[in-house]
Amino acid sequence: MLKLNNGFEIPIVGLGTYARKAEPGQYRQAVEWGIVAGYRHIDTASCYNNEKEVGEAINNKIKQGIVTREDLFITTKLWNDRHAEKDVVPALKESLTKLNLNYVDLYLIHWPVSVNENGEDEGIEHAETWRGMEKTVELGLARSIGVSNFNAQQLDRLMATATIKPVVNQFEINPTLTEHELVNYCKKMSVVPVAYTPLGLISEARPEFIGKDIIKTDPKLGQIADKYRKSRAQVALRYLTQRGIVVVPKSFTKSRIEENINIFDFDLTEEEMKIVDSYNINHRCVPGAAFKNFKNYPF
Ligand SMILES: NC(=O)c1ccc[n+]([C@@H]2O[C@H](COP(=O)([O-])OP(=O)(O)OC[C@H]3O[C@@H](n4cnc5c(N)ncnc54)[C@H](OP(=O)(O)O)[C@@H]3O)[C@@H](O)[C@H]2O)c1
Repeated sequence: MLKLNNGFEIPIVGLGTYARKAEPGQYRQAVEWGIVAGYRHIDTASCYNNEKEVGEAINNKIKQGIVTREDLFITTKLWNDRHAEKDVVPALKESLTKLNLNYVDLYLIHWPVSVNENGEDEGIEHAETWRGMEKTVELGLARSIGVSNFNAQQLDRLMATATIKPVVNQFEINPTLTEHELVNYCKKMSVVPVAYTPLGLISEARPEFIGKDIIKTDPKLGQIADKYRKSRAQVALRYLTQRGIVVVPKSFTKSRIEENINIFDFDLTEEEMKIVDSYNINHRCVPGAAFKNFKNYPF
């Protein structure tokens, strides 16, 4: 658990749920396996189109007495077409209806960009969207609010005017995109960094990056993994959590869901942390290319 700046706590490993393609029932199954494996933090978003199944899984496990709602930390996110202040509360209410929950633990602005119905840049100020986010807390619909994909300047500007401070910034961090500067900045501002795509190029899901995937074969990383009888993926997740970063790895595979949370019975040495760090090539798996020409594109 890591402490948030409002006193609530966030479990350091969460289950990611984004998939480009899924069979019916696959999200529900993954979340159910996750809860049984010990995950208490689930990461979804309105744009993943899976809140209904994710909610079914959560409510099934509550009904079965495996967990209570209070045991769980559920995150969802505001999509880019609902950034107008008046749209934020209705958007979260829609998510809660799909999730069949009364509140989420964390509501995030998914991207610092806003789009109109034609997919064009709407350029809504973050301060405006944030007033809507603050209302979700006042109404008890979200316990905490935060941002995602914000750069340091955007976070800084928001912190200056926010009445309720963002508790996290969720962005891509992994051994090939180590993001030390932004991680340090978040920590300095008492904002917890949350790593999405934490497996980065280690994941088998990213064949398009062939040629940059030395991390999958480099013997040094293999030796570290062998030493602790862990996989390369587990070493990557341990590296992030040892840096004080929350991770939300996604898997639809039962054994990997279990593997990705089984990372707390070993500690990487300082030397090993440096080796994992040395794979950094500032490669972004999720560049948000569709928003490249938007005023508030963060990267
Ligand atoms: N805020 C944002 O803008 C944003 C952007 C991207 C992602 N996210 C969140 O972050 C979560 C994680 O990111 P991600 O899904 O892009 O990437 P990821 O978690 O780094 O990688 C997921 C992929 O890796 C595979 N995998 C999982 N565990 C593995 C293991 N132990 N060994 C080898 N391969 C493994 C999975 O395959 P199988 O499923 O086949 O097992 C899946 O294809 C998302 O699901 C979502 O919740 C947020």
